[in-house]
Amino acid sequence: MTFAQPKMTARDVSVFYGPKQAVKSVTIDVPTDEVTAFIGPSGCGKSTFLRTLNRMNDTIPAARVEGQIALDGEDIYSAGMDVVQLRARVGMVFQKPNPFPKSIFENVAYGPRIHGLARHKSDLEAIVQRSLKRAGLWDEVKDRLSDSGTALSGGQQQRLCIARAIAVDPEVILMDEPCSALDPIATARIEELIAELRGNYAIVIVTHNMQQAARVSQRTAFFHLGQLVEYDATDTIFTAPKEARTKDYITGRYG
Ligand SMILES: Nc1ncnc2c1ncn2[C@@H]1O[C@H](COP(=O)(O)OP(=O)(O)OP(=O)(O)O)[C@@H](O)[C@H]1O
Ligand SMILES: [Mg+2]
Repeated sequence: MTFAQPKMTARDVSVFYGPKQAVKSVTIDVPTDEVTAFIGPSGCGKSTFLRTLNRMNDTIPAARVEGQIALDGEDIYSAGMDVVQLRARVGMVFQKPNPFPKSIFENVAYGPRIHGLARHKSDLEAIVQRSLKRAGLWDEVKDRLSDSGTALSGGQQQRLCIARAIAVDPEVILMDEPCSALDPIATARIEELIAELRGNYAIVIVTHNMQQAARVSQRTAFFHLGQLVEYDATDTIFTAPKEARTKDYITGRYG
């Protein structure tokens, strides 16, 4: 499945950990302004592939990436690519909420400050407020911005991490099982948030929850044993998959 103007493109991307190949020649387009879900059994390479999209595998010494990945047509693995800048444009939210051991305000202000997005204190305050509002957290924290981010509930921490990613004005947001540590109410809140953010960002979400993939995404990619088996409109993947392996997985036959 290809798009006229994809936000990101991956061509023949393989990832190795030492001699072991975790991702096998994956070719995919990530659309602009839509939510793409990555599904598949544990260990099939979803997180590994997701991390290639903002070069987070660079931080894993044994990992080696082959193939081409582009953001708006620009090769993100080229020698001239500023990786810090790239990770601001392609933000990431992890499975376990990981706020900095700093205040709620500082968690969100940190990125805009290091990227020079705010000239004055008032600009920074405006960015923090806007980001927390967009992440649906403002009302709950506006009177306690100097409290530690780690003192929030798990669901609030995850929304804080989303606010932190949004604060630097990213183009793409990668989410690796962002709800797996959350209760159903906090999960529903994050899903609503994803629906609200959709349209402003290209969002890629890894999930083990089939209902969640069906609810939040417009495109779904099914991975198995390091390969991209099938990629299509979410409705098609869940109602009329073309590949037997996809069908077996979504009907719970394995995984
Ligand atoms: N840092 C690492 N060093 C070595 N091997 C790794 C590393 N990270 C992942 N792997 C291996 O790469 C393969 C793919 O792992 P990955 O974490 O990408 O799978 P996943 O689809 O995200 O699984 P899960 O659904 O359990 O999160 C697995 O065989 C895993 O053991
Ligand atoms: Mg994973």
